[in-house]
Amino acid sequence: MAAIDPASKTLAQLGAATPEAVVQKFAEVRARFDADLVADANPQNWSAFVANWSGRKSGMLTKIGDNWLKPAPKELKPIVGQEFQKLKSHIESALESKRQEIESAADHAAAARDQIDLSLPGVERPIGTQHLIRQTYDELLRIFLSIGFSVVEGPEIETPYYNFEALNIPEHHPARDNMDTFYIEGARGGHLLRTHTSPMQIRTMEKQQPPVRIVVPGKVYRRDNPDATHGYMFHQIEGLAVDTDITFCDFKGTVEYFVREFLGPQAKTRLRPSYFPFTEPSAEVDASCHVCGGSGCRICKFSGWIELFGAGMVNPAVYGFVKYDAEKLSGFAFGMGVDRLAMMKYGITELPLLFQNDVRFLRQFP
Ligand code: DAH
Repeated sequence: MAAIDPASKTLAQLGAATPEAVVQKFAEVRARFDADLVADANPQNWSAFVANWSGRKSGMLTKIGDNWLKPAPKELKPIVGQEFQKLKSHIESALESKRQEIESAADHAAAARDQIDLSLPGVERPIGTQHLIRQTYDELLRIFLSIGFSVVEGPEIETPYYNFEALNIPEHHPARDNMDTFYIEGARGGHLLRTHTSPMQIRTMEKQQPPVRIVVPGKVYRRDNPDATHGYMFHQIEGLAVDTDITFCDFKGTVEYFVREFLGPQAKTRLRPSYFPFTEPSAEVDASCHVCGGSGCRICKFSGWIELFGAGMVNPAVYGFVKYDAEKLSGFAFGMGVDRLAMMKYGITELPLLFQNDVRFLRQFP
């Protein structure tokens, strides 16, 4: 804007004493407005620009009204008034169209910002897979659910009573030796990390009358020195069936059904005598080697058989702890190492691989 503001003087002071001169003065202001509008007006200074020209207090139009129109001599008043009205409506309508122009430009810019480019490649979010332990659990549960077992879970922090005593493992019993136990210091009444899922046999029978048919998946803990096949934690699935008429045949049939489902229809089963305080008789369940089919190979150490899990008929002594009638009831139980089963089935030789969360390892089991 020009440095000198003509509207701060009267027309007389500006030397405009004829109608032509008046028209000329208004034309100058209008020309300046038009030039400023093009050169200066922008979204940043818009309100200042508007105030400068049409602001009620000290805008150009107000000043022209005050300094040109009001003091105009009588004979010039009509022409000044007329020119003033013309200038006023010109400025006001030009400001209005400029305002609309600025607004719609802003709208366009916002719309352009919000536009989605459908041709951009998407963000790849790799889909994970279920961990091999989870997959193995699902497979084991599927098999047992299909023959009428239901799933229960129990605490990982146990009492010696449930972990040992009620399973017919009294203190100083040698069976406690091969289950080196994590005891929890200072816990009231003595607590420990369960060394197996068998305590859930007791907890279930305490709460429930026969028939009982349960499987118990869960983590167990032992003070083992870590090596290729041992850690401080591993996974088990426990099984228990108790009813009035369960025989050794039911036990054997169930075990054989399981082995065929888990390893394939050609798999054979073998029961070897064993010992567990809570089963009598006890057995180790072996399956014919799934790699060589029984002819002998590195995996089965050339025996043709693979050791799968421990099992047996529930020792009547256990029923005494849960107030079941040992005369009328019978049943079988089993306890499997899930990590072991997974390693055996998928030919994994290093247990730690299952827990290191290296995706290169985990991705091999989609
Ligand atoms: N609890 C045993 C262990 O962890 C496994 C076991 C063996 C469970 C025989 C059973 C069973 O229920 O009948 O070594």
